[in-house]
Formats: sequence, C-alpha cells, structure tokens
Amino acid sequence: MTSRSLVAAEPFLVKQEYEIYTTEQHSVWSELVSRRLPQVREHACREFLDGYDTIGLSNDRLPNLREITERLRPRTGWSTTAVSGFLPGNAFFEMLEARMFPTTTWLRSRDSLAYIPEPDIFHDVFGHVPMHAHPVFADFLQHYGSVCARIQNAQALERLGRLFWYTVEFGLIRQDNKIKVYGSGVISSHGECNNVIEGGCEVRPFNLSEVLDTPVKVDELQKVLFAIESFDQVYEAIQEAEKQVKQASE
Ligand SMILES: [Fe+2]
Repeated sequence: MTSRSLVAAEPFLVKQEYEIYTTEQHSVWSELVSRRLPQVREHACREFLDGYDTIGLSNDRLPNLREITERLRPRTGWSTTAVSGFLPGNAFFEMLEARMFPTTTWLRSRDSLAYIPEPDIFHDVFGHVPMHAHPVFADFLQHYGSVCARIQNAQALERLGRLFWYTVEFGLIRQDNKIKVYGSGVISSHGECNNVIEGGCEVRPFNLSEVLDTPVKVDELQKVLFAIESFDQVYEAIQEAEKQVKQASE
C-alpha cells in the first residue's frame, strides 16, 4: 500500500519541511539526544540498539524522515511518515496496517525538555522508530493495526489499546537476567526510565489476559509494567487477541 491508497489517514499526511527547522531546534534535538542516549545505551534492549544504529539518527540534527524511511524500507517495509498531529483511531490503524508510522514533525521547546503532554518528533523517532527495524516487532505492529482497523466495538478497542500501551509505549523485556526497555514512553523519558531502573514500578511477566485487564495511567509514572521474554511473545499476543475478538463477535 502507498500513501495514495490511504483513505482515513489521507487528510492528516503532511510534508516534513526540513529546511525550516531552526538552529535552536537542531540544538534542542542535540541536547535531548545527549541527555537520553547514555541511559538508553545502558538499559535499552539489543533489538532497540541495533535498530537505533540502523536508522542512522544524528546526534546534532533533527531527523529527516525520508532518509530514515530509505534505511528502514529495505529491511522491514516500514516508513516513517509525517502527519499533522494526533490521529483518530481509524486513521492511525490504517497507517499501521500499511506499515507507515505516523510521525509528528514538531519538537518540544527548551523549556520542556523533560516532559511534554503530547508526542513530538523526539518521542516518535528517537523513541519508537528504532524498533521498526526489527522484523518480528515490525510484523507485530502491522498486524496490530490490521486487527484494530476492523474492530467497531469501543470496549474491545480499549482493551487492545492496553496491549499497545504495555508494549509499544511502555514495553520491557528480560535479557541476560536484566530488565531492559524498548517502549518509547520509557526510552524517551528520563523520569519513566529511572522509575523502572530504580524499582519504582512493579515489573510483572507479560501475560496477555493480565495486560488486557490492566487500565493505563496516562498522567503519572507507571506503577505496573510487563516484561516479555522475546519479541515472538508480542507477535503471538496480537494473534491470540485477534482470535479472542473474533470469538466474542460470533
Ligand atoms: Fe508513543
């Protein structure tokens, strides 16, 4: 599928006007990367770090989404596609199904380096996009979009939103007997990452039914997160969730 095949998401597609980023914005990007990268290099999982190197982010300049897509597409078929802002569910799922990750192009200001209420390009690209270079995670994310795109029931969508939250946004994985991070909410935030590392948050083994039953907390540090053993587990989880949704609607 190309961007021309999108229907619900089409009105939200924009061009990343790369040349209009200011020196100050490149400098804020650089500061964000230098603040986060040491902790991420130490505590992110192997797959995230491999992806980080694959997509070739610069420490000094904001990312050019077209260049990232050129690196990702041959590997997993994903693109990093600029959108105007928050997308309604149907547009968001349509893009995931098409292996297009909707990405904001704005960057937080220097006054709000540590926290912003809505995702910006740092959260989206530094936090999310490296995982799109991992084939199993990439397939999981696309399948997640294709399952959600076909669900009308609000309650079923809310439950599946929890699967997204506890994997894509706040996912943890156990590697070499240590808890490592891969969700963008933990990767891109010093506070959330410290909270995990310093034991401020209970880490439970990933279990699909428990994940689907655990409401998300959007306005405070996470108190409970789930650690997978491998990325096959998240791919199996979306397949199992799909089965459950189908059975419930029969
Ligand atoms: Fe996110």
